[in-house]
Amino acid sequence: MNKNTVNPFRWKSDFSVDIAELDDDHQMLFELLNHLRATIECGEASALPWIIDDLLQYSIYHFRHEEDMMEECHYPFMENHKLVHRMLENRLHDFVKNPEYKENLEAATWLMGFFAEWLKDHIAGMDKNYSECIQDHEEGVNCAN
Ligand SMILES: [Fe+2]
Repeated sequence: MNKNTVNPFRWKSDFSVDIAELDDDHQMLFELLNHLRATIECGEASALPWIIDDLLQYSIYHFRHEEDMMEECHYPFMENHKLVHRMLENRLHDFVKNPEYKENLEAATWLMGFFAEWLKDHIAGMDKNYSECIQDHEEGVNCAN
């Protein structure tokens, strides 16, 4: 069993934002990262474009999901949060558009590490901050006041 098999990308309860549907999204992002990891480990370069595209499309879906929920509760730091989402989307788009990175195992390995670190930092550093606002909104409390 190699090191990566022992230590796959795994959602853990420390990553919880205490909103079940957003935790589900985050778990799916970790699953997609594991799919990418397994593909790289098997050397299946021809499968990389659609797996990376899945990661991009799901990231966009998830970011809109978070943004809709932040908007509903009038989260005061939403604009900055959206900007950070767009920056990540742009990096993924740039990667997908670059013909040199297509079916490139080395480039995909870099992307996987970059995305995994980004995701963990983003959940801990930004996503957890909206938790109280969204929960209050769901319980009928207005956090903008
Ligand atoms: Fe976010």
